[in-house]
Amino acid sequence: MLYINECLTSDTPVKLVNGDNKKGFFEKKEPQVYFKRFNHAEFIGEELANIRNIRCTHYFIAGLTRFKINKTLSKSKTDKYNPTIGIGSFDFKEKDNTYKYINEYEKLANNGFESMLKHARSEENKKQLCKDMLEMLALDIFMGQADRSEVNIMFEEDKNGNIRLAPLYDFEHSLNSTCQNSNKLYESSLYSFDNIDECREFIKKYPIFREILASYLNVNLTDIISRSYNKRGLVIPSDKWEYYIDFENKQKEKIKNIVK
Ligand SMILES: Nc1ncnc2c1ncn2[C@@H]1O[C@H](COP(=O)(O)OP(=O)(O)OP(=O)(O)O)[C@@H](O)[C@H]1O
Ligand SMILES: [Mg+2]
Repeated sequence: MLYINECLTSDTPVKLVNGDNKKGFFEKKEPQVYFKRFNHAEFIGEELANIRNIRCTHYFIAGLTRFKINKTLSKSKTDKYNPTIGIGSFDFKEKDNTYKYINEYEKLANNGFESMLKHARSEENKKQLCKDMLEMLALDIFMGQADRSEVNIMFEEDKNGNIRLAPLYDFEHSLNSTCQNSNKLYESSLYSFDNIDECREFIKKYPIFREILASYLNVNLTDIISRSYNKRGLVIPSDKWEYYIDFENKQKEKIKNIVK
């Protein structure tokens, strides 16, 4: 597990955000910024989403301060603003679309995946929504996502009623060894797989899911981790790599078993 203070350097760019709560604000005309405590997986989730062209929230290092300021400064110059350093993201909501959690479509969905497909506007929309959700399930399985609850999935509806998965967010409970020890392979409000066999059954219905999952066998996770931290001016202490390499190997073993 990584902590923010071991990753920051005096040169790390920090975007100062004014606010005192979960949501930070820039000046009125600026887009809203969401602020959350640092966790090790958010930047990595975004980087992984990018390689498969999955829409995802953009995350950056933010310094939440009570001063009204909207600037990016290197960490060493932010001290006078006494910021809480965490993770920021711009609001991904677009004004012409509406955003809903699954419970606004389905009250008691026990298989949110299939239920949501019934809400698609057209065959074409169904295909897109299906692809969006399959991509999320595969990414989640690779990352060992343990908290894809209904508030961590949002749907986006355009003015014609076409539904897509909104950009992904919240990878906080991922890349943890606890997910590897859990009895369940994957659990979420869209779909749960108790074990590898259930996942293989699902693949019979959605064959493209095998290809999506298998593509993660070619992803170099440690490379992705280092890239996602480097580009934000963060460093990863060398003693952390053993853990991530071990995590990557175990997840790939699991995926090999599913797709073979
Ligand atoms: N960039 C963003 N654009 C739009 N909405 C966002 C964004 N980031 C977060 N949210 C909203 O804020 C909520 C909380 O964000 P997130 O899930 O990342 O934080 P959290 O610490 O897990 O909070 P919670 O415990 O409420 O899930 C999300 O469920 C989502 O509704
Ligand atoms: Mg959340």
